[in-house]
Amino acid sequence: MIPHIRKQPLPTGITFIVVLVATLHHSMTQEVAATTAVPQTSAAPATPASPGNPERGHYNVTNGNGTVCLMARMGLQLNVTFINTENKTVQELVNLHPNQTKPTGSCDKDTAILTLTEDKTNLIFSFSLNVTSKKYHLSSLALSAAWPDMAAPLNASGSGLDYLRGTLGRSYMCREEQNLMVDANFSLNTYQLQVQPFGLNSDQFGEAEECELDEDDMLIPIIVGAALSGLVLIVLMAYLIGRKRSHAGYQTI
Ligand SMILES: *[C@@H]1O[C@H](CO)[C@@H](O)[C@H](O)[C@H]1NC(C)=O
Ligand SMILES: *[C@@H]1O[C@H](CO)[C@@H](O)[C@H](O)[C@H]1NC(C)=O
Ligand SMILES: *[C@@H]1O[C@H](CO)[C@@H](O)[C@H](O)[C@H]1NC(C)=O
Ligand SMILES: *[C@@H]1O[C@H](CO)[C@@H](O)[C@H](O)[C@H]1NC(C)=O
Ligand SMILES: *[C@@H]1O[C@H](CO)[C@@H](O)[C@H](O)[C@H]1NC(C)=O
Ligand SMILES: *[C@@H]1O[C@H](CO)[C@@H](O)[C@H](O)[C@H]1NC(C)=O
Ligand SMILES: *[C@@H]1O[C@H](CO)[C@@H](O)[C@H](O)[C@H]1NC(C)=O
Ligand SMILES: *[C@@H]1O[C@H](CO)[C@@H](O)[C@H](O)[C@H]1NC(C)=O
Repeated sequence: MIPHIRKQPLPTGITFIVVLVATLHHSMTQEVAATTAVPQTSAAPATPASPGNPERGHYNVTNGNGTVCLMARMGLQLNVTFINTENKTVQELVNLHPNQTKPTGSCDKDTAILTLTEDKTNLIFSFSLNVTSKKYHLSSLALSAAWPDMAAPLNASGSGLDYLRGTLGRSYMCREEQNLMVDANFSLNTYQLQVQPFGLNSDQFGEAEECELDEDDMLIPIIVGAALSGLVLIVLMAYLIGRKRSHAGYQTI
């Protein structure tokens, strides 16, 4: 009878921990899912019909001698405001389709150009390298578009930009959606981006430098993990203290 009673606290305690941890884990993972889903749901109700996330393209620029000197992988969405054929100002989101987009460009010592052409759309990226500091960035973006619903062809460009900052020989990476403002009528949304405009010396991207958006994203699981292990520790200690007390209780009987 007594050994039976003595054994009882152990399975009850373990069950308690398992149930508590499972519950906490469940509620916390749900919280993580909810917070990561927020940017997508908040972006959806914006003005016109969203075309959905763009497909990710793989674009290369080759040197005169045939070696790849710029590599980019990204999904691209244009956010353009223009006057349409009905003389109305409209804002449209247009995805680039990788299988219909042709990359061209050039690579110099301190400037690299990537031009993407899809039908009546032309998008030019200019990257600049500071040879002294060995840092590069996207310094200008230019769009020209002659879509059927436009009253007149559109040219939009921005120079002196400071986006996609990386280090020579490394790639810049941003998995999260980024909104690059270019001018009042044009911004570029990038998805799942990895680019290296300088210092490619093999077929592979150099070590990736991640954007802050991605780092913030990784911080959440780390915090949850730390909180969870802290809670497990507290529960274990509480259990051990409880067992010690009940053990002392048996001895007095
Ligand atoms: C190709 O040309 C670049 C300079 O334009 C040079 O750095 C590179 O070594 C050349 N590669 C080959 C395989 O010749
Ligand atoms: C498109 O641009 C407009 C004006 O710049 C902005 O208000 C809107 O949030 C942008 N939408 C997306 C999905 O980027
Ligand atoms: C377009 O609208 C503006 C004012 O909203 C008007 O002044 C202009 O004449 C219109 N143009 C055409 C071609 O209808
Ligand atoms: C491009 O890809 C889309 C979907 O991925 C497909 O529907 C379309 O037929 C493709 N177009 C061409 C020209 O390959
Ligand atoms: C390049 O970087 C160096 C060191 O950070 C800086 O002093 C210089 O002004 C930069 N040059 C350009 C053209 O931005
Ligand atoms: C728009 O850009 C195209 C090509 O870049 C150029 O030929 C055209 O002259 C430009 N139009 C205007 C109005 O600037
Ligand atoms: C934006 O578009 C409007 C109407 O087409 C035009 O009047 C304005 O100059 C454009 N703004 C810029 C910065 O290009
Ligand atoms: C781009 O270049 C890389 C490295 O040479 C190669 O693996 C990849 O297939 C190329 N992609 C395209 C779309 O040409």
